[in-house]
Amino acid sequence: MKKLIIVLLLSPFCFLLMAQTKQKPKAKAASTKAKPVPSAAAKASAANGLKVFTQTCISCHQADGGGVPRMNPPLIKTPWVLGDQARLIKIVLNGFKEDVEINGDYYSNVMPSFAYLKDQDIADVLTYVRSNFGNKASAITVKQVTVARTANGK
Ligand code: HEC
Repeated sequence: MKKLIIVLLLSPFCFLLMAQTKQKPKAKAASTKAKPVPSAAAKASAANGLKVFTQTCISCHQADGGGVPRMNPPLIKTPWVLGDQARLIKIVLNGFKEDVEINGDYYSNVMPSFAYLKDQDIADVLTYVRSNFGNKASAITVKQVTVARTANGK
């Protein structure tokens, strides 16, 4: 009997709680109504990223990031593009010559080092790669490149 009374006493509170949680998504929808406008810095990075990609990567990885089967791997949703950011930066700094399998094709060509690129250019080109060709990954910052380059020693 005691239990029943407690439950009955608490039930209005449960109702209040439920009403509150129901309202929450509404408030959230209102606050995200305004679409984020890309900042001037993000626009400049995207433009420079495309420029560096066109000058440096396009000949092997192609304009659509699709690569050339069995020669140059695609940059579309691969673990290297979407995964560990320091590892990705190091591919550009050191080049790449691991035998890899991507989408059932094997790649064993050699990608040369692009350590001569400025930190800004590496950050922008990798941000470009990670946000194009169907990829939706976070930006790479200049600071991350500087840190990776220092750790890498070149
Ligand atoms: C001369 C051709 C060539 C150029 C230019 C080149 N790459 Fe590569 N890249 C390759 C090859 C070949 C591999 C695979 C190497 C292997 O199989 O060991 C590769 C691998 C990669 C990988 C890891 C595998 C994958 O597909 O995810 C990434 C990321 C990458 N390249 C990004 C770039 C970026 C960014 C640029 C421009 C800064 C660039 N590459 C320029 C030939 C190239």
